Amino acid sequence: MGLEDMQARVHANKQLFENLWLMELECPSVAANIMPGQFVHLEVPDLQANILRRPFSIFDRDEDAGTVEVLYQAVGTGTRAMRTWEPGLVTRMIGCIGRPWEVPYDTERALLVGGGVGAAPLNLLCQELMASDVGVDVILGAQTEGALVCRARYERTCGREPACSTDDGTYGREGFATVLVEEALARAQAEGRPYDYAAVCGPEPLMRAASQLLMEAGVRCQVSLERRMACGVGACLSCVVDTASGKKRACVDGPIFDAEEVLWR
Ligand SMILES: Cc1cc2nc3c(=O)[nH]c(=O)nc-3n(C[C@H](O)[C@H](O)[C@H](O)COP(=O)(O)OP(=O)(O)OC[C@H]3O[C@@H](n4cnc5c(N)ncnc54)[C@H](O)[C@@H]3O)c2cc1C
Ligand code: FES
Repeated sequence: MGLEDMQARVHANKQLFENLWLMELECPSVAANIMPGQFVHLEVPDLQANILRRPFSIFDRDEDAGTVEVLYQAVGTGTRAMRTWEPGLVTRMIGCIGRPWEVPYDTERALLVGGGVGAAPLNLLCQELMASDVGVDVILGAQTEGALVCRARYERTCGREPACSTDDGTYGREGFATVLVEEALARAQAEGRPYDYAAVCGPEPLMRAASQLLMEAGVRCQVSLERRMACGVGACLSCVVDTASGKKRACVDGPIFDAEEVLWR
């Protein structure tokens, strides 16, 4: 599917925890065509000063209903305005943008690591891997128990609870998700079923540290990089990422990159 600028109608918009919200939007074309890891560029019509669209991953989709879900953290002008959107509001989105996760065809076991709202772009990938009978282990990290808003959804997708860590120790392992990555690598090795592939999304220090551990263990690893985006379609160069093969645009050459290619900031 090429890029389309489409109408999107809000179906639901609810607060999950503090500044974490889940919005359901009707947009049949995106629901039908989105590939795991791709994103949409959403218009925030209430903004007068900053008219740029905002990039969001698709957390989930219902192809039959023609709807998609966006899990968002209210952090600035646009995302705070989105909290006020009522069902029925009509906006626009450009999609489906970017390079999706690319799982090697012979993958038998995969590890997915999501920190904070970084868990969002991994859910469709998790569904796809489960449907292809790939063994999947999921690690989710958050600041505190309430912020582990994706836990139940992943449990439903995988049929078992993901391994969780919280910075404050209120749920799962206390500390950063990297501790769980080290444990998962050791367990997979001991079981004689090492990971063939890993996908990591979250704060940059987590992606950097986790991908380092994974690559040292010989696991092919991809990360989803966030950069401030203006056009979102490859024209303005506001989103450049330094890679081993030169400067790349996060919007159209990414947002998924091979971790070994990324020159971390
Ligand atoms: C590929 C991609 C997927 C994303 N997926 C999600 C998601 O699923 N859920 C989620 O909560 N957030 C996601 N983000 C981050 C989200 O786009 C920003 O939090 C959002 O744009 C902030 O807008 P704002 O108006 O509230 O903030 P402001 O700081 O007021 O925004 C000002 C400008 O900066 C841009 N901007 C600010 N922060 C970011 C950022 N981190 N990345 C890109 N542009 C930014 C805004 O788009 C806007 O043009 C994603 C970012 C990228 C690049
Ligand atoms: S946002 Fe314009 S080139 Fe990527």
